[in-house]
Amino acid sequence: MERLQKVMAHAGIASRRASEKLIKEGRVKVNGQIVTEMGVNVKPSDTIEVDNIPITQEQKLYFLLNKPRGVISSAEDPKGRKTVVDFFSSIDQRVYPVGRLDYDTTGVILVTNDGELTNKLTHPTYGVEKTYVAKVTGLIDKKAVSRLERGVTIDGYKTRPAQARIIDVNASSNTSLVELTIHEGKNHQVKKMMKTVGFPVEKLNRHQYAFLTADGLQSGEWRELKNFEVNKLKQLVDENYSS
Ligand code: URA
Repeated sequence: MERLQKVMAHAGIASRRASEKLIKEGRVKVNGQIVTEMGVNVKPSDTIEVDNIPITQEQKLYFLLNKPRGVISSAEDPKGRKTVVDFFSSIDQRVYPVGRLDYDTTGVILVTNDGELTNKLTHPTYGVEKTYVAKVTGLIDKKAVSRLERGVTIDGYKTRPAQARIIDVNASSNTSLVELTIHEGKNHQVKKMMKTVGFPVEKLNRHQYAFLTADGLQSGEWRELKNFEVNKLKQLVDENYSS
């Protein structure tokens, strides 16, 4: 359910303030009834008319893409590189990525046209858990892992407590595989954290976003989220906000 004036604004009728004015003037009907009071909530199946002309509510869309390397995660790139949005050219509505993954980072990224959920999911403090698997240079040890977990200072900012786990240490290639779960989403956060503890990232994959993984999707493939997954995401962010 969403506020009537917000739905009108999203449908491009007028700004929220101007939509409120239209409501007060008695020019808006919900399911055939004129509505003049503020605070009415509508659902996607409700019929809304302004001056007897029905408006179409934008359908909310939610996708999960298994992002390949070499793709930019913004809606447009001035340098003309491929963007995550290019994978959704068959979708009529404008969609955009939820947060960022670096050009060379692979893995789970959500793509939607739901601005409200995007804002909550990418909130710097209340953001959802994200799990990365990093291939790093060097043979990582427990000391570095516990530093990552306690928080390290990057760009003058101390990262919040995280979970870290060594998956593999390979002496012959002088590399290690580390899993790191963080709640924030600062720019290049994982790469900076790893570098700070002395193990620069060679490859980075976002394995999990909240409870969502790219299981069953090849690199570059995407799928629509199921209703229950969208509801669970909304529930998660609302819990994060209230705790
Ligand atoms: N942290 C990074 O350093 N890069 C990403 O793409 C995501 C998290």
